[in-house]
Amino acid sequence: MTSLLFLLSLPLIAIGCDIKATLNFNPKIQSGFARFKFFNETYGPVYEYREGEKNLPQKFTIKGTFCNMKPTILETFETDPRAGDVKPKKTSQAFIEGFGTMDYQIGDMHTPYLSSKIGVFCGFGDCGNSHG
Ligand SMILES: *[C@@H]1O[C@H](CO)[C@@H](O)[C@H](O)[C@H]1NC(C)=O
Repeated sequence: MTSLLFLLSLPLIAIGCDIKATLNFNPKIQSGFARFKFFNETYGPVYEYREGEKNLPQKFTIKGTFCNMKPTILETFETDPRAGDVKPKKTSQAFIEGFGTMDYQIGDMHTPYLSSKIGVFCGFGDCGNSHG
């Protein structure tokens, strides 16, 4: 039991992350914008997605040390956040750590969620459990 608890707590102290992440878009989607706010408090690029169009998956890497000190947040917007003073429509946030791959999805009603993960420890947030 003690060793099991030790194993379970290991990901929490893993030093760093190197995650190949993909942002996917539902086939049916309302036009909008998505942006990541990373654990290091910087923003990723703004991705625009359009209703009735084929929105190609976006690939990027999440890399750093102490990745789970702060949450990584996927935000969606109805208007371009680069216009300034735009509040997110929906957010999905989680504390992540580890080495592997992660898939995020933008669903109906601008709902972002984590759709799958391999080798990534995710805690204290939207870790994809409620979406199968
Ligand atoms: C913050 O983290 C993201 C994702 O790993 C990375 O792309 C970006 O370059 C980092 N920014 C800084 C200032 O370290």
